Amino acid sequence: MEHLIAPSMLSADFLRLGEDIEMINNSEADWFHLDVMDGVFVPNISFGLPVIKAISSLAVKPLDVHLMIVEPEKYITAFRDAGADILSIHYEASVHLHRSLQAIRQAGMKAGVVLNPHSPVALLSDILEFADLVLIMSVNPGFGGQEFIANTFRKIKELKQMIYEQGLNVQIEVDGGINRYNAADLVEAGADVLVAGNAVFKAHDPMEEIRVLKSLL
Ligand code: DX5
Ligand code: ZN
Repeated sequence: MEHLIAPSMLSADFLRLGEDIEMINNSEADWFHLDVMDGVFVPNISFGLPVIKAISSLAVKPLDVHLMIVEPEKYITAFRDAGADILSIHYEASVHLHRSLQAIRQAGMKAGVVLNPHSPVALLSDILEFADLVLIMSVNPGFGGQEFIANTFRKIKELKQMIYEQGLNVQIEVDGGINRYNAADLVEAGADVLVAGNAVFKAHDPMEEIRVLKSLL
């Protein structure tokens, strides 16, 4: 399967958000990656429902919402109503993950589970069949522009193997520190979706950078 590119709007220029959304609309990017942080689960606060609703009104590609919040189960229908197509919640923030993933699917969205860098892939063996996507964090969540953690490659391969052994169709997304220099190796290891924040928005030509990440030239 051809890999997907999901630019993280956390690194966009919020004073020109409309222009950046149009740029993504017109680019080869596949999804909008939207990072919601509550200042409790992670040591940073980003944006929430009203901003996602505004992005949804202009975006012509799926909204991939990454919740870095405690008690994510409380807000499932609220994010659906704001326009989320894919909703991912952290393994580390979900006491009743099975119930929450089912609620996300019942609300009409794709359900994603996110693993922090310290959480082993093996934790997912009894929940994988209830997820549409697994997001492997390749940095500690909370900030854009951090350095990629190299053990991610091993985690992607382990997860790919687990998905294969269980006969499932689950997408593997990777998030944090991804750029034109490690993208090809990540896809080679088994990643289906690459998130990129700084690599895209700090580039001299963001649309061209997306093209490079998409074509892996
Ligand atoms: C980090 C976020 C990421 C971040 C990625 O907590 O989940 O999506 O925006 O940014 P870069 O690509 O700059 O590491
Ligand atoms: Zn993210």
